Amino acid sequence: MEISSFDQYHQVYKNSVEDPEKFWGDLSKEFKWHKEPENILQWDFNKPEVRWFEDGQLNITENCLDRHLDDKGDQTAIIWEANDPGEAPRHITYRELFDEVCRFANVLKRNGLEKGDRVCIYMPMVPELAIAVLACARIGAVHSVVFAGFSSTALADRINDSQCKMLLTSDGSFRGKKTIDLKAIADEGLKKCTSIQKVVVLKRTNGAVHMEPGRDLWWHDEMEKADSQCDAEIMGAEDLLFILYTSGSTGKPKGMVHTCGGYMVNVTYTFKTVFQYQPGEVYWCTADIGWITGHSYIVYGPLSAGATTLMFEGVPSYPDMGRFWEVVARHKVNIFYTAPTAIRALEKADLSFVNKHDLSSLRVLGTVGEPINAEAWHWYDQNIGKGRCPIVDTWWQTETGGIMISPLAGITPLKPTYATLPMPGVQPVLMDENGQPLEKANQEGRLCIEFPWPSMARTIYGNHQRFKETYFSAYPGYYFTGDGCRRDNDGFYRITGRVDDVIIVSGHNLGTAEIESAIDEHQKVVETAVVGFPHDIKGNAIYAYVITRDQIDDEDVLRSEILALVSETIGPIAKPEKIQFVPGLPKTRSGKIMRRILRKIASKETENLGDISTLLDPSVVEEIMAGAI
Ligand code: PRX
Repeated sequence: MEISSFDQYHQVYKNSVEDPEKFWGDLSKEFKWHKEPENILQWDFNKPEVRWFEDGQLNITENCLDRHLDDKGDQTAIIWEANDPGEAPRHITYRELFDEVCRFANVLKRNGLEKGDRVCIYMPMVPELAIAVLACARIGAVHSVVFAGFSSTALADRINDSQCKMLLTSDGSFRGKKTIDLKAIADEGLKKCTSIQKVVVLKRTNGAVHMEPGRDLWWHDEMEKADSQCDAEIMGAEDLLFILYTSGSTGKPKGMVHTCGGYMVNVTYTFKTVFQYQPGEVYWCTADIGWITGHSYIVYGPLSAGATTLMFEGVPSYPDMGRFWEVVARHKVNIFYTAPTAIRALEKADLSFVNKHDLSSLRVLGTVGEPINAEAWHWYDQNIGKGRCPIVDTWWQTETGGIMISPLAGITPLKPTYATLPMPGVQPVLMDENGQPLEKANQEGRLCIEFPWPSMARTIYGNHQRFKETYFSAYPGYYFTGDGCRRDNDGFYRITGRVDDVIIVSGHNLGTAEIESAIDEHQKVVETAVVGFPHDIKGNAIYAYVITRDQIDDEDVLRSEILALVSETIGPIAKPEKIQFVPGLPKTRSGKIMRRILRKIASKETENLGDISTLLDPSVVEEIMAGAI
C-alpha cells in the first residue's frame, strides 16, 4: 500500500474508494491491538453515526511508545527548542518519553483520575505538554487541550462544557519577549468552575504563583513520588481519546470528539504518506499542540510512526525574523510544516534572515490552516526550498482529525495554491447551491465528503443535535465542510475559503458570533456585526461594525475598551483590526444581517454591492460607507 509514484497513487486511491473497509482494515493491521478489529465500519450519515474498528481494543500510547522501544528506544522522539535560543534544547528518546509518560500517568491516577474523566490541559509548548497528553491517553482519561493564548473566560467555558475534573497548567510561559502568567489566568478562570478537583502545576518560568491548598500540586513533587511502571488502559476503538474545541457559527465553541482507533490509523497513515517520512529524518511542525495540527502532526501521527518530532516553544520573530531558519539549520530539519500566515510574515523580512542559515537539510515543506496565496507559495518554494523541496498544501480541519486533500511529497505534481488531490479513502464532492453534486471539471462549489474516514469527529461533546445540524443537514447524506472549493480540469482541488460565519485569522478559526457576543457585553454597545477582510499577513483580519447606545465622547477610548474586552473574553487573537461605530446595520426585513454587504465595505469593494433594495433600511449602507475605515 505504500505509494511511491503518481500511477501508484491513482491505483491505491481507486482501491480505497472501491473497497474502503478493505483499505482501512488492511492499514489497521500494522498497529498493536489487544484485540484486532473484525468489524471495520458502521455508518449512517443521517443520524449521523460513524464507528470504525468498533470491536478492536487498543491503547494509542502503546503504538506511540511501547512498540518502538525494542528497535528505537534510544532514538530521539522529541527534540525541544526553547523560546530563548540561549537555553539548551532537549532531546528525549523514545525510552525516556515512555518512562515520563508512565510516571505522569501514575500521577494522574493517584490523584483520582479514571478512564473517561476529562482533563483540561492549558500549558506552554514544552515537552511536558506532550507528556501530559500521552499520559491522559495512557489511562483512558479524555484530554481537552486549550491553547495557552486563550483568556481565562475562554478557558473556564471549555472546562465547564466538558466538566473537566483536573487542570494541568504551568506557572507561566515564555513567548518571544513576553512572560505570561498562565497560572494567574487559570486561577481567574477557575473561579467560574466547580468541576476541577486538582490542578497540577509545572514550573517553567519560576514566577511567584498562588497555590490553592488542597487543590494545587507541583508537577515535580508529584513526579518524584511516581513509579515509571504503568500498564496501558485497554480502550475500545470507539472510546473517547480527546475533545478539542473549535469555533462555530454560534457563540459557543464546539467540543469536537475524537476516538481512539480510527484516529490512530488515519493520522499515522497520512503522516507517513503525505510527508513521505523516512526513518531517521527530523520533522518539524510549527503549530501549537493547542490546535488539531499539533495533536495529529506533532504528537500522535509522528510518534506512532516512530519519527523524530521537533517542538518549538517560541515565535517566528524572536529574537529575530530568522528564528525558524536558525532552528532548521541547528537541528538539520528535513521536513518543515507551517502556516501560510507565518510564511507571509517572514516573507516581509529581509532575505538575509533566511540566507545566513544553512537550509540544505530540508527535503519537504508543508502548509496548513488556510489558503496559501501564490506569492507566498513561490517565496516559500524559492527561498526556503531553493526550488528543490516539494510543498504539500494540506487541507483538513479540526473535525476531520487528519489530512484530507494534499499532494504527496515528491509524488503528486504540484500546482501553487492547490491542495491538489484527495488522500486515499477520502471522497470529496462539490455541491451547487441547490444541493446537486457538480460532476464536471472546472467548477466551483461547496466542499462535502460523501463517505466516512476513520479520523472524523464523532460528535460535538454533549450536543449531538448541533453536530448533525452543523455538518450533516445542509446536504443530507454528506458531511459538509463549510469551505468553498474549485476543481480544475485535472481534477485538482483548490480551497477558496469559508462559506459560513467562521473567519480564519492567522490560521486560527474564529466564529463571528463569538466575537460579536464578546463586544456586545460592553455596556455602551447595543449590537455588533463582525466580518473578515483580506489582510497581507494574517490572511484575514476582523472588522467590527458597532452600534452604540448613546453618542460617544471619545471613540478611541471605547475602541480600546472593546479590544480589552475581546482579549479578556476570547484572547488577543480575536481582537478586531478595525472598529467602526455605525448608526445601524444592513438587515433584511426578517432581521438577518447582510454580512455580504459589510464584507464588501470592509474590503473596500463597494462598486458592486448587489441588490440592496430588499433591506429594511437601504440608506444605512450609505452611512456605513461614508464612515468606513
Ligand atoms: O477553511 C479551511 C482552512 O482551515 C479550516 C479548518 O480550520 P481548523 O479546524 O482550525 O484546522 C486547521 C488545521 C487543520 C478549513 O475549513 N484550511 C485548513 N487547511 C487549509 C485550509 N484552507 C486552504 N488550504 C488549506 N491547506
